[in-house]
Amino acid sequence: MNVLLTLTYLSAVRGYTWPSPQLDALETVRFNQEGFNAGGLAALIQPCTAYIFGGPNTGRSDAADWIRTAYHDMATYNKSDGTGGMDASIRFIEEQERPENAGNGFDNTVIAMNSQINRYVSIADSLALAAIVAIENCGGPEIAFRGGRSDAGEPNAPGVPLPEQSLETHIAAFARQGFTPTEMIGLVACGHTFGGVQHDAFPDIVGELDDPTSIDDVAHFDSTFVTFDNAIATEYISGTTRSPLIVGANDTTNSDKQIFSSDGNTTILSFATSAEVYTSTCADLFARMLDTVPAGVELTEVITPLPIKPSSVEFVMNQDTMELSGQVRLWNTTEDPSLIVQLQWSDHLGETHTTGPLGFLGTSSSTGGKYSAVWYTFNSSSIHLDPAAGVRSLSFLINGVLEDQNGLGFAVQDAFMISSTSCQIENPPSGRIDVAVRNGVNVTRLYLEEMTTDNVGRPIVVELDITPPASPVAANPAYTVWSMNLTDPNALYGIGAQIGGVNYSTTDQHRFVEFEVC
Ligand SMILES: *[C@@H]1O[C@H](CO)[C@@H](O)[C@H](O)[C@H]1NC(C)=O
Ligand SMILES: *[C@@H]1O[C@H](CO)[C@@H](O)[C@H](O)[C@H]1NC(C)=O
Ligand SMILES: *[C@@H]1O[C@H](CO)[C@@H](O)[C@H](O)[C@H]1NC(C)=O
Ligand SMILES: *[C@@H]1O[C@H](CO)[C@@H](O)[C@H](O)[C@H]1NC(C)=O
Ligand SMILES: *[C@@H]1O[C@H](CO)[C@@H](O)[C@H](O)[C@H]1NC(C)=O
Ligand SMILES: *[C@@H]1O[C@H](CO)[C@@H](O)[C@H](O)[C@H]1NC(C)=O
Ligand SMILES: *[C@@H]1O[C@H](CO)[C@@H](O)[C@H](O)[C@H]1NC(C)=O
Ligand SMILES: *[C@@H]1O[C@H](CO)[C@@H](O)[C@H](O)[C@H]1NC(C)=O
Repeated sequence: MNVLLTLTYLSAVRGYTWPSPQLDALETVRFNQEGFNAGGLAALIQPCTAYIFGGPNTGRSDAADWIRTAYHDMATYNKSDGTGGMDASIRFIEEQERPENAGNGFDNTVIAMNSQINRYVSIADSLALAAIVAIENCGGPEIAFRGGRSDAGEPNAPGVPLPEQSLETHIAAFARQGFTPTEMIGLVACGHTFGGVQHDAFPDIVGELDDPTSIDDVAHFDSTFVTFDNAIATEYISGTTRSPLIVGANDTTNSDKQIFSSDGNTTILSFATSAEVYTSTCADLFARMLDTVPAGVELTEVITPLPIKPSSVEFVMNQDTMELSGQVRLWNTTEDPSLIVQLQWSDHLGETHTTGPLGFLGTSSSTGGKYSAVWYTFNSSSIHLDPAAGVRSLSFLINGVLEDQNGLGFAVQDAFMISSTSCQIENPPSGRIDVAVRNGVNVTRLYLEEMTTDNVGRPIVVELDITPPASPVAANPAYTVWSMNLTDPNALYGIGAQIGGVNYSTTDQHRFVEFEVC
């Protein structure tokens, strides 16, 4: 009963319409954080003291580096001409060598994000996601996330404030970035709930500490430097702070003191008095910081989790059988052996088919364990498809209740797919990718999509056109095979096609070495 109520409520949650390759990919990094199918970001900050580039007790943390990196990447923004902002220009050595970007935390963050980047998740999106995952997993509020940042092709003009600068200079820098003096106080107080100042990067501010719990000589901003909380404000107000930017020996570099007291302590006092005010202010300011992007970049809507999300949906043409496999994630649901999940599919002949109960795969969680999701699998062991009938869309039955995206169904395309007749030649290594194309579908272009990066590290897709076969080769009565010979055994290919002026891509990718010998 409980399950039914929950799921009925979830159906009402608004999300985007599946499929949307970009939103699907961004949602995956955003919400598949721990457990089954976890993307790996949250694991790097478990526990929040973790610092993957050093052992324990360095005094450093990945979480602090990730948040600092996002701010420094954004801080080049110039509101008047729309240049700079979150565009991953911080990855350029030229920016990292500037005094305003002292320390190796930026490079470390960019390296740690490598595995998250793909054609739909830019480097800049990954830096925004890193900050969000750090904040949310280490005690902070949920941050609204939009995707779609583009990655700069070259460094931006400098623009990060430095501790020794005057209050006027700080106010001007934050104004250029689009923040009022009050918001400046907020952003500094929110960012500095994590981390501290490291001796190596700022030897004039922090000396050698001779502290076995801070081997890398990091003097922290507050006593809870791996946790999001308002201790940065309460310790400042109570006079117990040990922040090197408030009670540092040289008053010139006590920039947080100047900033916090710049409005007579009004804002920082409101944070010290109310953890809720602090938290909600930080949630807003962090989201705005991450959404500060160069003019012309259009961000997506705020990404919310899909209540029911098909994942890894893949077709393979295997001689006379079309194989369909995939997974489905049920959001905000906990493991329940009595839950019965079934797949339904509609074919091109207008028939609907229903599977037996799907196999349970595992649970995942997100947002510091706040949300839980369960995963089920479907595959060719229980789904036998007639290629002529094909598949138009999927839907699910959860304890008998239909989940079909409010009548739309979860559309899938079976116009083209990898064929299991693809093969490899061992010596010299080469191979062939075969694509099965549905007869009667007007495919104006068919191509392989090779995932690679450009000369400044941005993910790109290289398209390799497949020439239509001179004389049709039948895969079976409903499909024809188009082939391409290839020589790179490591290259990973998706398949793309243009149909009716629309580009479609498979989400599955293949190397020819996966297949049998030709
Ligand atoms: C910001 O852009 C305006 C307009 O192009 C320019 O006049 C100003 O110098 C820029 N500010 C900085 C700090 O580069
Ligand atoms: C304090 O810091 C400023 C700015 O870095 C520097 O110019 C000055 O020499 C420092 N004063 C002392 C006493 O170290
Ligand atoms: C702000 O608070 C600090 C810490 O309690 C105190 O030292 C300082 O005098 C206050 N400044 C103003 C302008 O009230
Ligand atoms: C998650 O489910 C619980 C009931 O199990 C419900 O109270 C809560 O509102 C749901 N949260 C979201 C964000 O859907
Ligand atoms: C295939 O699907 C069935 C039914 O959902 C499931 O029990 C089985 O574990 C799945 N096999 C694989 C390899 O995923
Ligand atoms: C691939 O190579 C084989 C063997 O050389 C050749 O017979 C075939 O025509 C080639 N196919 C294509 C699509 O180029
Ligand atoms: C296929 O599509 C192209 C472009 O949309 C169009 O020009 C062509 O007439 C179509 N061919 C058929 C057979 O429908
Ligand atoms: C489809 O892909 C081609 C080649 O990459 C591109 O030029 C075209 O703009 C794309 N069309 C749409 C509608 O996205």
